[in-house]
Amino acid sequence: MDRKNGIARDGDMPWHLPGDLKFFAKLTSGEGGNVVIMGRKTWDTIPERYRPLPRRKNIVISRQQGLQVEGAECATSLDMALEMASSCAGSVYVIGGAQIYALSLAHPNCGSVYVTEIDHDFECQVFFPTLTGYARTEILGEQKEKDLVYRFTRWTKQ
Ligand SMILES: NC(=O)c1ccc[n+]([C@@H]2O[C@H](COP(=O)([O-])OP(=O)(O)OC[C@H]3O[C@@H](n4cnc5c(N)ncnc54)[C@H](OP(=O)(O)O)[C@@H]3O)[C@@H](O)[C@H]2O)c1
Repeated sequence: MDRKNGIARDGDMPWHLPGDLKFFAKLTSGEGGNVVIMGRKTWDTIPERYRPLPRRKNIVISRQQGLQVEGAECATSLDMALEMASSCAGSVYVIGGAQIYALSLAHPNCGSVYVTEIDHDFECQVFFPTLTGYARTEILGEQKEKDLVYRFTRWTKQ
């Protein structure tokens, strides 16, 4: 997210930071067997050639009953998605967007939030929810790319 908690502008992420994408892929892929859960709108923004995200079980949340998307499973609630994820041995990552982040931060099983904090204002229209009840407990790294300074941080439920 950017300096003002912005995560999207004009229906997509307004930055392209290969270093951040690499961090995201490594974290969420892990040793294999992990799950990524996302909102239907976020799924729609991923170019077809990059979805489903490889080496991870992809679950899409939508209110549309009977929705089918190629390469992913669909759930009609966060709890249903978590139930579908429970057969996997690995970790579960909720990867956006704003609506699904908001649901997830309020869920009792959400213990950690990994936030890439970009020191810039992209004049976004969609924002990450306020991290009430979480504290920044770790800075995992900081780097600069295309004149943008950004930090990998971890927030933990207090
Ligand atoms: N910067 C980042 O880290 C980041 C990460 C991910 C996404 N994004 C951006 O965020 C934007 C999308 O975020 P968004 O908040 O608009 O959408 P979203 O959270 O990705 O998806 C919203 C959709 O999820 C479904 N949904 C929401 N609440 C639900 C509930 N309680 N039960 C069942 N289904 C539910 C609905 O799907 P239906 O309409 O199908 O019913 C809703 O339209 C995109 O522009 C994307 O590029 C940014």
